[in-house]
Amino acid sequence: MYMHLYILSLILEINVFVAHGLRHPSLPGFLNTGGGNITEDLLARLSPGASVSTDLDSAPRWSDYHRPRAGYVVRVAEERDVAETVKYCNEHDLKFLAQAGGHGWADTFSMSDNDVIINLRSLNHVSLNEAKDVVSFGGGVLGGEVIAKAAANNVTVSTGGFNCVGYMGITLGGGIGRWMNKYGLNVDNLLSVNLVTAEGETIHVSPTSHAHLDWAIRGAGQNFGIVTSATMKAHPMRGDDRVWVGDLFYPAEKLEKYIEIFNTLNMTEEMTIHWRIDLTPPNNTPVIAAQVFFMNADVEAAHAAFKPLYDLEPYKDTTEVIPYGQVNDARDFACVHGPRKPVWGAGLKSLDYEAFQTLWDEYADFVAKTGITSTIIGIDAYSNYATRQFGSKHASYSQRDVNFFALIVPIYEDASLDPAVEAFGSRVRELWLGSSGYDIPKIYQNFAHGDEPLEWIYGDSLPRLQQLKKKWDPRGRFNQWFAITTPEEREL
Ligand SMILES: Cc1cc2nc3c(=O)[nH]c(=O)nc-3n(C[C@H](O)[C@H](O)[C@H](O)COP(=O)(O)OP(=O)(O)OC[C@H]3O[C@@H](n4cnc5c(N)ncnc54)[C@H](O)[C@@H]3O)c2cc1C
Ligand SMILES: *[C@@H]1O[C@H](CO)[C@@H](O)[C@H](O)[C@H]1NC(C)=O
Ligand SMILES: *[C@@H]1O[C@H](CO)[C@@H](O)[C@H](O)[C@H]1NC(C)=O
Ligand SMILES: *[C@@H]1O[C@H](CO)[C@@H](O)[C@H](O)[C@H]1NC(C)=O
Repeated sequence: MYMHLYILSLILEINVFVAHGLRHPSLPGFLNTGGGNITEDLLARLSPGASVSTDLDSAPRWSDYHRPRAGYVVRVAEERDVAETVKYCNEHDLKFLAQAGGHGWADTFSMSDNDVIINLRSLNHVSLNEAKDVVSFGGGVLGGEVIAKAAANNVTVSTGGFNCVGYMGITLGGGIGRWMNKYGLNVDNLLSVNLVTAEGETIHVSPTSHAHLDWAIRGAGQNFGIVTSATMKAHPMRGDDRVWVGDLFYPAEKLEKYIEIFNTLNMTEEMTIHWRIDLTPPNNTPVIAAQVFFMNADVEAAHAAFKPLYDLEPYKDTTEVIPYGQVNDARDFACVHGPRKPVWGAGLKSLDYEAFQTLWDEYADFVAKTGITSTIIGIDAYSNYATRQFGSKHASYSQRDVNFFALIVPIYEDASLDPAVEAFGSRVRELWLGSSGYDIPKIYQNFAHGDEPLEWIYGDSLPRLQQLKKKWDPRGRFNQWFAITTPEEREL
């Protein structure tokens, strides 16, 4: 009798939990509602090529720092598998997270050991239409796969600066890269997507289909659905399929003059600069390394464009002309997976010499104290004429007036160094934000750490994004990545 009452109350309790969509403890592998086996139940609903693994390393990630936890990795084989997995997770109150390139470094993940990673990597087809002005691709494709296809077809497509990063991952946050100089951001070139919604419905989203949602996904897409496939504009190559690229090196003493140049250089559409503070052996002396890029093979024009940097007399120059298809290869060093790589970023209007000199000095102390010699400190400077012509009306991306994207990435293995790294990373971000030239800080969503106020990331777009979030994802199923919540929701 008591036993029956006990079981009855358990069943009632479970029903109450399920009805409210709340989480409750459960045994790994078994459903809260029944005792079924998650792996088997999922496999029964997915296409034959799909697989389910309990090995998290089957979906490797770029950084181990605060990586999302999960009990299951579903490797989808067809687009419909994504919708099936979302529906299944909804029915069984499991959290889920889409993963493409696995580079997302934010510490906003709140998954547990019973949740599900939806690995999109098999959705990696890339094709061009006959006119070669539209590229179609799967939601799990990487930047390098798109570049390879474009190069083989004598077209260019807006991509980021690295081969290994997920193409939709980049795009849904905005998508910055060298080709934005001429064609605008990835979100300015995106034509349409197939999107799985929080309810597990698959819908077509474009400026003429669900127009408000279309605006939202162009800068905050990870909060609204999972893109299973998409189309993007492709542009004819300009006569020459080669580009000019390489590093210019300067010693520390030239920092002040170097920064002055950055603040006055007219970045025309052909020009991009990625500069890093490099440590050179044997004494780990920090030096300036500027990767300069010119969009075509005209070496004379490139030298003229970067004249102020040449006038500063680099002590080493590795620039060369290479085929467009190899444009990112020199940066593959940053693609290596693991170990710990937390990142702090900031958007800057201009560069402040005092702040950079302080950073420079404190960086030397940090390296001496922690022994972390592999840290990337990088500043990206693009040409902004094209991006600004697009304006903000058609996309929620809110960082168009940023002139420089700054990042710091300490790379290390020992988790006990986390507190020292966190202190230094936030300190550097503070130096940048304190001298950024903006009243309200600006941080590109894909470069943010995870602890920033949403206003810094979504800017003026935040209120409208919050409204749309209520409509399209009221239960917060897509809340793993800079969740767009309202102040009231955040207090709960
Ligand atoms: C080495 C390196 C270089 C980078 N270079 C650039 C650059 O040049 N330009 C730039 O703009 N950014 C760049 N970034 C930042 C990059 O945009 C983000 O790290 C981005 O989140 C990576 O996407 P991913 O698919 O690799 O990562 P993931 O961790 O797989 O995804 C990141 C987030 O996007 C979501 N997501 C991924 N695919 C989809 C999809 N198909 N549908 C819905 N949601 C999806 C995930 O759920 C997750 O929330 C770089 C990052 C690294 C580590
Ligand atoms: C679930 O099923 C899979 C595949 O049949 C099996 O390997 C796994 O051990 C099962 N899990 C549990 C908890 O029984
Ligand atoms: C690539 O396209 C451009 C512009 O249409 C053209 O000038 C060039 O000859 C083409 N190159 C090749 C190798 O087809
Ligand atoms: C910068 O370059 C652009 C594009 O070539 C040009 O239109 C503009 O006048 C230049 N601005 C300055 C200040 O030189």
